[in-house]
Amino acid sequence: MREFTAEYLGATREGMWADSREALQPLCLERCERALDVGAGTGELTRVLREESSGEVVAVDADADLLTHVSGSIAVGDACRLSFADNSVDLAVCQALLVNLPDPGRVVREFARVASERTAVIEPDNSAVTIDSTVEAEGALARRARERYLAGVSTDASLGAAQELFGEAGLSSVEVRDYDHERVIAPPYSERALTAAKRKTTGKSIASDRETMLVGDTTPEEYDALRQAWRKVGRAAVKQMQDNEYRRREVVPFYVTVGSVM
Ligand SMILES: C[S@@+](CC[C@H](N)C(=O)[O-])C[C@H]1O[C@@H](n2cnc3c(N)ncnc32)[C@H](O)[C@@H]1O
Repeated sequence: MREFTAEYLGATREGMWADSREALQPLCLERCERALDVGAGTGELTRVLREESSGEVVAVDADADLLTHVSGSIAVGDACRLSFADNSVDLAVCQALLVNLPDPGRVVREFARVASERTAVIEPDNSAVTIDSTVEAEGALARRARERYLAGVSTDASLGAAQELFGEAGLSSVEVRDYDHERVIAPPYSERALTAAKRKTTGKSIASDRETMLVGDTTPEEYDALRQAWRKVGRAAVKQMQDNEYRRREVVPFYVTVGSVM
């Protein structure tokens, strides 16, 4: 299982669901008395669910350390074997969990078992992420690095909409909505944005993906060239930030798939 840090989750989910929650409407959160957010991590989605529901929202994750960042109801557990009885919650939901698991269908079936009303999964299509940047080479380089990384990943990182898995789990009235998570870096720069750009100049941010890239079709030489180009883009970004000229817009397409248990 890929490990996630609280810092990474805080950065990648920044601003998510702050602009619009229309895609969450089919979850009927206002009618939920008890919901599970499975693979909750640091509770980025849990907090949104709790704002929209007056019922209990339990954050479940296999990583007990990440759950220390979540207040309220939490449970350490495996999404494939939830320690909740059949039909014991109204809704079971996850965000960016299935793209990291080898058998996402098993998790959807487990959600359908514990939920009495609805099941929902919010998953990105990581192959369709776009980046526009004032550093000319950044968008194309990020795309190349992403392609290299995805070639070495053993899970379906571009899952997006999950109608098929829902059908196989016997869920009905399946509805899919899309939500683009947009992250913009522009002046005045946040501490987080400045740190991320500086980190890029060291090559550390891409180094954590090296092993996965080499599992795919990337050679060590190609990885080294990619890392050098990455550091160069980082230096250009830091320079533009010093002049208040750097702007970057990243869009990650997410899909919300919701189905009825009955
Ligand atoms: C990409 S993070 C998403 C976290 C959170 N849902 C969010 O959107 O910020 C994936 C999370 O799934 C958790 N996870 C991975 N495999 C799991 C499993 N089998 N059971 C429960 N949690 C799991 C990880 O610990 C991590 O917190």
